[in-house]
Amino acid sequence: MANNATVIGLGFVGLTTATFFANRGIKVYGIDSDIERIEAIKENRVPFFEPKLDHFVKKALLSQMLIVKNDLYDGVKNSKFIFICVGTPMAQDGKVDLTSITKVSKDIGTAINNVKKYQVICVKSTVPPGTTENTILTKIEKTSGKRAYKDFGIGFIPEFLSEGSAVKDMTKPHKIVIGTNDTKSLLSIDNFLMKIYGMGIHTIKTSIISAELIKYANNAFLATKISFINTIANICNHLPGTDVDVVAKALGSDPRIGNQFLVAGPGYGGSCLPKDLSGFIVCCKETGYEPILLKAIEAVNKDQVIIIMDILSKRLGTLKDKSISILGTAFKKNTDDIRESVSINLIRKLKNLANVNVHDPKALDNTRKIFGHSIKYSYSLKDALSDCDCLIIMTEWDEYKEITQKQILENNKNRPVLVVDTRRLVNFKKTNKIVYVALGKNTFVYK
Ligand code: UDX
Repeated sequence: MANNATVIGLGFVGLTTATFFANRGIKVYGIDSDIERIEAIKENRVPFFEPKLDHFVKKALLSQMLIVKNDLYDGVKNSKFIFICVGTPMAQDGKVDLTSITKVSKDIGTAINNVKKYQVICVKSTVPPGTTENTILTKIEKTSGKRAYKDFGIGFIPEFLSEGSAVKDMTKPHKIVIGTNDTKSLLSIDNFLMKIYGMGIHTIKTSIISAELIKYANNAFLATKISFINTIANICNHLPGTDVDVVAKALGSDPRIGNQFLVAGPGYGGSCLPKDLSGFIVCCKETGYEPILLKAIEAVNKDQVIIIMDILSKRLGTLKDKSISILGTAFKKNTDDIRESVSINLIRKLKNLANVNVHDPKALDNTRKIFGHSIKYSYSLKDALSDCDCLIIMTEWDEYKEITQKQILENNKNRPVLVVDTRRLVNFKKTNKIVYVALGKNTFVYK
């Protein structure tokens, strides 16, 4: 058993974690209930796009330090550390859906029932404060017949990695938070992570509930910065002569503010920020506190898509029979993830009003799963730029920065095109044929 680890849930956090541990010399059992996913990984295919991860998965499988399986029992029985990385998606009512984590907790309890050695459960899935003790721990105790803090250890270790830079973030985390309620769990987890990362890593040790809160607060703060700069961008839209990027640069040069997460855009999406903010709001209300600030951050984010729709109706008039090309459906660049992508929300609003054509370098297959035949898909950028009345840049893919006015004019036989650039990537000059509107850049439009 030694330092063996089981990682349950091989999504983006779990697979990156399992692979990283395995390549650092830990025997890892990677578990997922999705058979197709397990088969894909066994064949060295990462079931989602994450730069460089496929290389490290291959290395971990070849060395046989990573074994992937469907069933958690063998792994859990033979591991000292059990990491829970299953999804905690948003339910209809904005609450967090704890179905998977509850099931996994019961299964872990059943699996450790007869294990004589001390094992430590490490929760990495993002959960509302209180969930590790009140749900996960209690389920494990119930099905294992064991006592937490005595027969097994438990901790909450939040994950801060971002999609698109998961490998880098995992290798060099800006911080590690260890939430435990007893010394034995803390020492076990700390020793394990020290073995992986070595000394000198910035570690914050706290209680389980504080660690759970840190994860929510971290994501809420990132969302705050984005909604704040989007608010400034919206103000710029009404103030001729202003440019949100210049404002952001000036703000960011103040070390008390910091220059990251100040890029205005169509609003934040992805599998974490929207879900976690929503879960946090519900959680605050349940404690009896009305989180006015958090609700405003969420409201600003939801409004960004309306602002894009307003630009379209103001500039195009009716959308009927208009051809609109949307560049980018992934929620950000370097991923094929479209979960909570603002672009997907925009397509939903537009598809019954206009002819919608979409392009994305990585996320088109995922987009097709949602919209089927109801919209058109351009696998080449040239196609997406052709025969359109309007072009909306939604995702900040590097290749979109290279788009020229000449390309648009040539591909549209000099027909007038409205270009709405939500990420300010192309910075076009004003011409007779192209109307360029960049969110938050008000140097020559909105006069
Ligand atoms: C986020 C957190 O950053 C990460 O720490 C946590 O572990 C998981 O959630 P991720 O979902 O990968 O990571 O995306 P992130 O890079 O945070 O971007 C989220 C959204 O905000 C994207 O839609 C992105 O385009 C948008 N964003 C980000 C902006 O609009 N402006 C910015 O300046 C930064």
